Amino acid sequence: MSVPQFPVLIDGQTIARRIHELARELRVRAEEEPHFIAVLAGARPFADQLLLALGREKGAYDSIRLASYVGTESSGEVRLLKDLDHDVTGKRVVILEDIVDTGRTILALRSLLFERGAASVETLTLLSKPSRRVVEVPLDGVGFEVPDLFVIGFGMDLDGKYRDLPYVGVYQAEEAERPA
Ligand code: IMP
Repeated sequence: MSVPQFPVLIDGQTIARRIHELARELRVRAEEEPHFIAVLAGARPFADQLLLALGREKGAYDSIRLASYVGTESSGEVRLLKDLDHDVTGKRVVILEDIVDTGRTILALRSLLFERGAASVETLTLLSKPSRRVVEVPLDGVGFEVPDLFVIGFGMDLDGKYRDLPYVGVYQAEEAERPA
């Protein structure tokens, strides 16, 4: 089967450059080594590239799996599918997220981390859709602001598909359904 050719919103090179800038900004802010938490599965490519840019080992982060989306719609409810592996008590936590949309996932995760005794919580997200925000959440680093479009690739999926595309593309049903 051929791979659908979705319109490219942000190409891989531009993403890589921006991740290096985010890593530089984080290094300037950070005296203390952060405890990174990647929100799986979407944030994995972002987290891996960011940690490499910081000179840390790929995969050297804790992770949590949350779900709020059904197809291309936000359900409004955030469910915990896989918990953290490490204690966050007293730690400077940096959440790594693929995309902040309504803001509910980050709001829920921040509350969970503070309940568990994190000393501070920062959020770095590769993408943000500000026009979709339902709850306000503080963001400490945003790779790119994007319009209200459903995006796929570079970790982001539609029901488990298209995560491995090396770019951020705009999902189009006609393109996905085109016969091979
Ligand atoms: P929020 O809780 O509404 O901010 O949604 C955050 C989560 O929704 C992200 O971690 C993604 O998993 C998913 N999401 C939101 N918008 C998109 C999109 O355009 N493409 C793929 N996933 C999305």
